Amino acid sequence: MLAVFASSIDRKDPLSGLTVGEQPEPDPQPGWTTVTVKAASLNHHDLWSLRGVGLGEDRLPMILGCDAAGLDADGNEVIVHSVISSDEWRGDETFDPRRLLLSEKDPGTLAERVAVPARNLVPKPPELSFEEAACLPTAWLTAYRMLFTRGKVVPGMPVLVQGAAGGVATALVVLAVAAGARVWVTSRSEDKRAHALSLGAERAFESGERLPERVDVVMETVGKATWEHSIRSLKPGGTLVVSGATTGDADSAQLSRVFFLQLSVIGSTMGTREELERLVRLCVEKGVRPQIDKTLPLASAREGFEAMLTGDVAGKIVFTV
Ligand SMILES: NC(=O)c1ccc[n+]([C@@H]2O[C@H](COP(=O)([O-])OP(=O)(O)OC[C@H]3O[C@@H](n4cnc5c(N)ncnc54)[C@H](OP(=O)(O)O)[C@@H]3O)[C@@H](O)[C@H]2O)c1
Repeated sequence: MLAVFASSIDRKDPLSGLTVGEQPEPDPQPGWTTVTVKAASLNHHDLWSLRGVGLGEDRLPMILGCDAAGLDADGNEVIVHSVISSDEWRGDETFDPRRLLLSEKDPGTLAERVAVPARNLVPKPPELSFEEAACLPTAWLTAYRMLFTRGKVVPGMPVLVQGAAGGVATALVVLAVAAGARVWVTSRSEDKRAHALSLGAERAFESGERLPERVDVVMETVGKATWEHSIRSLKPGGTLVVSGATTGDADSAQLSRVFFLQLSVIGSTMGTREELERLVRLCVEKGVRPQIDKTLPLASAREGFEAMLTGDVAGKIVFTV
């Protein structure tokens, strides 16, 4: 079958190991089932994999991709929850120390077919297209958990989102606006700031620009490039929720500010199957839809990876099969 896979790993030139070609059909283990992929979306995780983060040489070739929407073995429309917890784990899957994402040990979703645990399938409502549904399981689910489970964002609360145009960042903006929060964003580019305003953000600032007032909550996925600004932007008692470090680890944790201002720094990772179901319901009931920047055939996946590597994205990049 056609698949997009990592054939080698290169930290400096991740796309040198990206291959689009034939891979073996999935071979589901007991309790797993095969999904016929209709659409799959790209995440920064796929670039990390090509750099060898979370993926060792011994697991190559590895089909990339965490997100998919498609048809189950009975022809039902489904969304794949990509957090694979161990069989004996009960409760919040994201707290399972042995959890994995598709494409870390088992082949991922950028393929015509993918094997997943049957318990990881969530029904796709007809209101969402396969392309929209394929955006939800990683970037959008991460944003949902950051805002509502970890950040406890409530209507009217001022929230700063670092980065305006990334997959997680656009999801944060759209979901926080839908929840009635006052959303401020930062971005390196004027076009991307304008895009965030068109999604309902109240104000948009240049990355690193001093804010007119401090906020209750900051959403961080950028890391080193924005960390100090995030800490400086919080009110006393404020909360920083972090789920990524695209530009690397912060030079300084800003500890004096953290303790003097009694700030909370909270980690967040992916989300549970139950949170994915709630996110899907929210999309249907509130008319919220993922922002799709580009839809490309799977065979043209390299174009999408190049756009993500250069930061030329405003929302999600989706591959159709
Ligand atoms: N923990 C988890 O479960 C989880 C889940 C999903 C994602 N993540 C992580 O979250 C990060 C974002 O993922 P994504 O898929 O949304 O990636 P993406 O689509 O490539 O977005 C990258 C974001 O980073 C911002 N950015 C990049 N370089 C910057 C710089 N030098 N200064 C300021 N902003 C910069 C961009 O903002 P502008 O272009 O607007 O400036 C954009 O919003 C990745 O590191 C990913 O691994 C973690």
